[in-house]
Amino acid sequence: MIEIHNLTKNFGAYKAVDALSLNISPGEIFGFLGPNGAGKTTTVKILSGIMKPTSGRVLVGGFDVVKQPLEAKKVLAYIPDEPFVYPKLTGFEFLRFIGDIYSIPYKEQRERIPELMDLFEISAQSGELLESYSHGMKQKLLIASVLLRKPRVVLFDEPTVGLDPKSIRRFKQLLLDISKDGTAVFMCTHILDMAEKLCTSLGIISAGRLIAKGTVAEVKKLASGAHCDRSLEEVFLELTA
Ligand SMILES: Nc1ncnc2c1ncn2[C@@H]1O[C@H](COP(=O)(O)OP(=O)(O)OP(=O)(O)O)[C@@H](O)[C@H]1O
Ligand SMILES: [Mg+2]
Repeated sequence: MIEIHNLTKNFGAYKAVDALSLNISPGEIFGFLGPNGAGKTTTVKILSGIMKPTSGRVLVGGFDVVKQPLEAKKVLAYIPDEPFVYPKLTGFEFLRFIGDIYSIPYKEQRERIPELMDLFEISAQSGELLESYSHGMKQKLLIASVLLRKPRVVLFDEPTVGLDPKSIRRFKQLLLDISKDGTAVFMCTHILDMAEKLCTSLGIISAGRLIAKGTVAEVKKLASGAHCDRSLEEVFLELTA
């Protein structure tokens, strides 16, 4: 569902992403880990089509994100690290807007939008302007918009920042549910505990280069040889030292 071939992104002389190659299959929950400034957000912005690569090729759902941007965008949903929502729409209007853009039939929108707002406990604010929503409420609204669309690929950039514990638990269950339905999840995160428990595969990027990839057990083996009993945190710190 996601194919990244030899992706490089330069900012002037600086290589933010350096010859990155990755493949993510349907139903996979891929955790993209790495220190601050490693190149995670840059990679996700390129996957989403909002930033152009310097070189290399990226396919989402089989569509080239540079040459077939509209087709790729129909397949994917992107939740950025800073939740952007239109301040002068209400929560309900925002979900209707997303529903219309992605051609979700009106009947389905009318049924599912209230259900989704209930699920994330933002129903009481459905008629309020989004400029009055807290960071966590905006994040929950964006996650609800992903559920409304049922995309085949979801890109999350640090999705749990700002969410309360109950919402984080709900979010984790949602990831498992959508992956069971075959959605490919690409998630940048610093929460190693969540990555260890939820992700079917991991990649660690450091200074733009992919330094490890595989299942949690495979990544642990890379750092500690035959001994797999170390925590992902210890392994991450060793590999990125
Ligand atoms: N628009 C830009 N112009 C110039 N440099 C940029 C730009 N965007 C990112 N960079 C640089 O590229 C590098 C990678 O940044 P990126 O945001 O991808 O890191 P990250 O892995 O997401 O970090 P964090 O964990 O802090 O979110 C950093 O050195 C950053 O300063
Ligand atoms: Mg980032």
